[in-house]
Amino acid sequence: MPTPVLPKDFQWGFATASYQIEGAPEADGRGPSIWDTFCKIPGKIADGSSGAVACDSYNRTAEDIELLKSTGARAYRFSISWSRIIPIGGREDPINEKGIAFYKKFVDDLLAEGITPFVTLFHWDLPDGLDKRYGGLLNKEEFVKDYEHYARTLFAAMPKVKHWITFNEPWCSSILGYNTGLFAPGHTSDRSKSPVGDSTREAWIVGHNLLIAHGAAVKIYREEFKSKDGGEIGITLNGDATYPWDPNDPLDVEAAERKLEFSISWFADPIYFGRYPESMIKQLGDRLPTFTPEEVALVKDSNDFYGMNHYTANYVKHKTGTADPADFVGHLDMFFENKAGECIGPETQSVWLRPNPNGFYELLKWISKRYGGPKIFVTENGTSLKGENDLPREKILDDEFRVEYFRGYIGALADAVKDGVDVRGYLAWSLMDNFEWAEGYETRFGVTFVDYEGGQKRYPKKSAQTIGPIFEGFIKKE
Ligand code: FCB
Repeated sequence: MPTPVLPKDFQWGFATASYQIEGAPEADGRGPSIWDTFCKIPGKIADGSSGAVACDSYNRTAEDIELLKSTGARAYRFSISWSRIIPIGGREDPINEKGIAFYKKFVDDLLAEGITPFVTLFHWDLPDGLDKRYGGLLNKEEFVKDYEHYARTLFAAMPKVKHWITFNEPWCSSILGYNTGLFAPGHTSDRSKSPVGDSTREAWIVGHNLLIAHGAAVKIYREEFKSKDGGEIGITLNGDATYPWDPNDPLDVEAAERKLEFSISWFADPIYFGRYPESMIKQLGDRLPTFTPEEVALVKDSNDFYGMNHYTANYVKHKTGTADPADFVGHLDMFFENKAGECIGPETQSVWLRPNPNGFYELLKWISKRYGGPKIFVTENGTSLKGENDLPREKILDDEFRVEYFRGYIGALADAVKDGVDVRGYLAWSLMDNFEWAEGYETRFGVTFVDYEGGQKRYPKKSAQTIGPIFEGFIKKE
């Protein structure tokens, strides 16, 4: 029998994101996002697909809520498509009341079923109009003002929402969008033409601008909207656990720590301490933007909670030689296997993901220690399964691998809480299979199978029914 260590009101449930599930790109006046544009570039999405239909969730909200109910979920994290709210995106552009009405009704419907909404304002689908108009995330002055306007519009329209997430994984927007080019808008650090002159600076500039926009939205929420009965707002950061490749080599030990700083502390240090980590300043020099005193005031202490997305772990080995300014991991190599031949975990459909629950435990402890024990919501955690898409239907639905993943990770979470980490919620990725960005539809992360050829019909997998009972065993009754 597990020891009940989680608080009585622990918020467990599932997560999704607008572009990955909604489809209906032109319905009710939605404008295009950078992902609609990016998917049209040949070679960018593995199977040549896009989110144009996805799970058709825009037209199936009732079905999705039924799915949630059938799992017993207490909470649901979804994101809002900015270009449904303001089709072109800017502060002087027309607002689309139909877009607002859609999400307001969805929130009402969730609440009517006793499901707590966690709403992400930005899960990567920037209105394309803003990218075209002024370079999107690269343009601090314009972007921050437009984001403030967008955020304020939603805070005002949806007072029943008590958990807001400003940005999902700014690391991905910055690095994958502006350094490797794997994600929209697909800039790479070797391209010769950049609106900011030197393309190896772009990712760091975007990261900085996202931090300022986050701080600005939090200020607005706190000053104008945060009600006495406890609305809260924070940012969601991704981060993999790290182990030194050779634990006896101090340079590997240092490199493993540096990797965490280049992914998590890049954003969390400014938010909790008001400055970038030393390791980044050292490697990036003047490529890393600096904060003005006004910006420090906006960004420092701007999290009511820490949103943690977590999937996997890596062994980290230091690299010798001079650091490359475009090196986004902080001058190191990463492996799934270490010097002694120890492996992080079995393969999945995603090249970057191997299950390692102990890494989750270690990383929860690391975040808690470094940032003074913040309240944490795990806003994503889950796995794909190697070859899942090619299995017969009944095998797909019997996803023991995923059940094991959740058992391991939820157990690690409970251990971390027992050891003093303040975790208040957990949203599994994902409620259903969906458009997995550059990996297209080949990779399935859902606890529900979506039949893309069969009219988007949903079929719950075994994992859909197992997360609840695992959690209920760990949650205190009193
Ligand atoms: C995260 C994203 C999420 C999903 C998972 C698998 O990085 O936030 O949208 O694609 O990975």
